[in-house]
Amino acid sequence: MLSGKKILLGITGGIAAYKTTYLVRLLIKAGAEVRVVLSPSAREFVTPLSLSTLSKNPVYWAYYDKDAEDGLWNNHVELGLWADLMIIAPLTANTMAKMAQGQSDNFLMAVYLSTKCPVYFAPAMDLDMYKHPATQANIEGLQSFGHILIPAESGELASGLEGQGRMAEPETILKTINDHLATNAPLYGKNILINAGPTYEAIDPVRFIGNRSSGKMGMALAEAAADYGASVHLVLGPSSVSTKNPQINIVRVESTKEMYEACLDQFPQADWSILSAAVSDYRPKNAADQKLKKTGDTMHLELIENPDILKTLGGLKRNDQLLVGFALETQNAEENAVKKLNTKNCDWIVLNQADKTERGFGHDTNEVLLISRQGQKEKLELKPKKELAYEILDRLIQHHTD
Ligand code: CTP
Repeated sequence: MLSGKKILLGITGGIAAYKTTYLVRLLIKAGAEVRVVLSPSAREFVTPLSLSTLSKNPVYWAYYDKDAEDGLWNNHVELGLWADLMIIAPLTANTMAKMAQGQSDNFLMAVYLSTKCPVYFAPAMDLDMYKHPATQANIEGLQSFGHILIPAESGELASGLEGQGRMAEPETILKTINDHLATNAPLYGKNILINAGPTYEAIDPVRFIGNRSSGKMGMALAEAAADYGASVHLVLGPSSVSTKNPQINIVRVESTKEMYEACLDQFPQADWSILSAAVSDYRPKNAADQKLKKTGDTMHLELIENPDILKTLGGLKRNDQLLVGFALETQNAEENAVKKLNTKNCDWIVLNQADKTERGFGHDTNEVLLISRQGQKEKLELKPKKELAYEILDRLIQHHTD
């Protein structure tokens, strides 16, 4: 699971820091790229030279190294965003408390606060410190952020006491991360492009042609995909839905042309693309610069066809990419959906039938039929869009991940 992944290893100042040289070796052997960030006190326990030699990358501990000849500062935001996942091991009670509080008094904390990736933490401290209600509350706090605890092990501690507090062994840390990714993050490492919502096509500065799409289905898919570990790029038309999930990068657009350009820009990097947006097929040929005045006569609006985003992406699709379209039909639903699947070169089409009040546009529930290029069919019964999103992804995962 870790092959090719970019891993930030944060090391804080505990005696178990000496074991992190071995952890770096294991991560490198698993095929990961590793960058190490030390807290100021971690440097007392393990040397940057050992860690940079093993990781084959520079090691960071400050914004600015006054001895460095290039005079450059280390960019905490770039480093945080670089990572596919972060491991903090050993994690002392002190740094754990800072993480729970969001304090940023050193470079490691600034990097941690800049990450958008899954974070794994392996506490290490003396047993009474570990048992203390403040520490336990901080562990719960970090878990509530979605971070994954790699529990301390029991045994002889550096203080001579026996009990829980030893950092998990490097092999255990690696196994916990691998197991967690395999079971809880089936889309970990995948880039997923999703588009959602309606598009607005300007008639004049105050009027537009639009549709009733709420963007709820696309947002539910984006949140489910992020929850499954994917990096999500959501191209969102004018819609009131929003998310705070850091793994979802939202690009807001208004017109079909803007949505087309944003999707085309992201498509080469996307492993999966799911186009759920209700794209306007036509736009006014000439949008007026000023508000149109009524004339007392019939108004004629000349419309021209918009580019078809799904069809364009279907034409560019590589063999290693999966493309999923949506189809909204009111008659001959299955037949029309299959026609769209073929003409737009999708791998799957999600068919919505807009003939029942509880499903489709604006509603919180939906019922769909998934049809594949190979003729497989998966009917998903009426349920909340949030649940349906997980089910759609589950079916795709079942068919398309090893
Ligand atoms: N789609 C698109 N670009 C367009 C029109 C549609 O990418 N200009 C995509 C939608 O996002 C959806 C699929 O094509 O994934 C089917 O959209 P739908 O509105 O059902 O069908 P259309 O292709 O627009 O055809 P029609 O309106 O004639 O049914």
